[in-house]
Amino acid sequence: MGADDLLSLAKRRGFFWPSYEIYGGTAGFYDYGPLGSRLKSNVENIWRRYYVQEEGFFEINCPAITPEVVFEASGHLAEFSDLMVQCKKCGQFFRADHVLEEAGVEVSAATAEVVGRLLLKEAGVKCPNCSNHQFGPPQPFNLMFGTMTGPGSAGRKSYMRPETAQGMFLNFQALLRHNRERLPFGAVQLGRGYRNEISPRQALIRLREFNMAEAEVFVHPEDKSWPRFEKVKDTVLRLLAQDGVEYKLTAGEAVEKGMMANQALAYFIVRTQDMFYEFGIDPEKFKFRQHRKDEMAHYASDCWDGEALTSLGWIEIVGIADRGCFDLSAHIERSGQDLDFFEAYDKPREEQIAEVKPIHKVLGPMFREKAKAVAQALESFDATELNTEDNNEKNLTITLGNTEISVPPEAYTVVRELRKVSGRRLVPHVIEPSYGIDRIIFTILEHALETGDDGYKTLKLTAPVAPIQVAIFPLIGKNVLVSKAREVEELLRVANMAVAYDDGGSIGRRYARMDEVGTPYCVTVDFEGVEGRTEQGSKNGESSLAESVTIRDRDSKKQTRVPINELATTLKNYLKTPPDTSGWEKATAAEKE
Ligand code: GLY
Repeated sequence: MGADDLLSLAKRRGFFWPSYEIYGGTAGFYDYGPLGSRLKSNVENIWRRYYVQEEGFFEINCPAITPEVVFEASGHLAEFSDLMVQCKKCGQFFRADHVLEEAGVEVSAATAEVVGRLLLKEAGVKCPNCSNHQFGPPQPFNLMFGTMTGPGSAGRKSYMRPETAQGMFLNFQALLRHNRERLPFGAVQLGRGYRNEISPRQALIRLREFNMAEAEVFVHPEDKSWPRFEKVKDTVLRLLAQDGVEYKLTAGEAVEKGMMANQALAYFIVRTQDMFYEFGIDPEKFKFRQHRKDEMAHYASDCWDGEALTSLGWIEIVGIADRGCFDLSAHIERSGQDLDFFEAYDKPREEQIAEVKPIHKVLGPMFREKAKAVAQALESFDATELNTEDNNEKNLTITLGNTEISVPPEAYTVVRELRKVSGRRLVPHVIEPSYGIDRIIFTILEHALETGDDGYKTLKLTAPVAPIQVAIFPLIGKNVLVSKAREVEELLRVANMAVAYDDGGSIGRRYARMDEVGTPYCVTVDFEGVEGRTEQGSKNGESSLAESVTIRDRDSKKQTRVPINELATTLKNYLKTPPDTSGWEKATAAEKE
């Protein structure tokens, strides 16, 4: 099955389609229709159940438009770019690594120099648009959408956020306070991200405006154990490690062997797998792949991508990274704010303290109007690096704004003493599970779609994600059946199920429509159930709960007759039965033995 099958179904049945189509469309933007929006909400709400409900993480909401200084500090302004090349003949721009990939040329390290050499020298590499052989030199292209906040010359350069993560870092102080100054804790955000992709393609896989769900888990830098790791340590994972070898290991083994950096990282890898199985992602077409050192994002020290096999190849649908203290340290340095935490010792300890003391009577005449700022900078100078011999014997370099200032030894002294200290300040480390919601939706749909030899399509969505959980049909459009079916519809809506009513066309056509959009159960109201009722039936024309309907199971096609007064409970039980992924787990356990 190719992606085209899914794309045509998605458009025809209201899941998703390219945006702005009546004006010719704009690459990299998609609309979700009625069923797609429901599927997306279901995915996001299950995600919230895992992170907000079960982990107790704090959900926040931050703006997408972000002032430039944030991305100067985070490194995105300097680093968040892809290499772009232009065809010299048709003038089109492409992502350099994609042109090479399509030509079957392997790029191990995508530096400008390597990519340029391959593109320019390899005669086989053609422009995907016009088949010319000549490209200009590769240039880095920053992927952030720039904008201005405010009018005219008063406007402030800003960018649309390329990740929601920065909101959690910028709000660290407030979040730590909310958690009563304790670690570990997590904060999450679901929302839009924006990346001005050079050549967006592959439907929901590479969008310029996309949906993300990110968690930033703040942990002690020297203790990345995770309180609930014990519960998940025996879960088997399929891991493609940095050495290029695929392993089937339990999470506990992966941590013990040092393949996975720490328990916190491994814990969220397992929980991600659990969530994906609940979404119906095929265990046979899913694995975690560790990033090579040369492909890691600028902020990461270890990173595992959850990759799913689709008709477009293996695609990354989640990245779980150890970001270390990269982001908080960068914002501390740039903003001067205390984005760290105080760790109290069990009991006060005696520690050798070294502090730089400014000598004001020297600083005054030496630095004049800057003397006060220089004195403050000296007081917060980290003196732990200065050994005794350095005392008052060398110039200290401090930074005021963008200016470096050298302070001579006669203007300061280093005081050393043993002091009782009650704790220390530390910058937390961050474990980040970051999910691409659109890619997950694409994978769910692809893994669920089955096409029979006769072309019959069934979308085998799991009940938790299905946009319609139960469809209700009157067998034929006769009044008595229609009104009873409407009553049943109301009954199930009140019981909080996602329902749809349909009385158009033959019953076979209606089943087929529901199979194609992934509805797990169809309820049919027929004469046997309404008119064939016994003495418990209607009195004085009032409806009776002794009547019955049939429930048809999408996958087995089996029909079961149930009394209407048991319908909601029966369906609720059916809907909460978890998908069976035990086959894969058993197979992997057997392989390990
Ligand atoms: N925050 C992770 C990413 O942007 O990919």
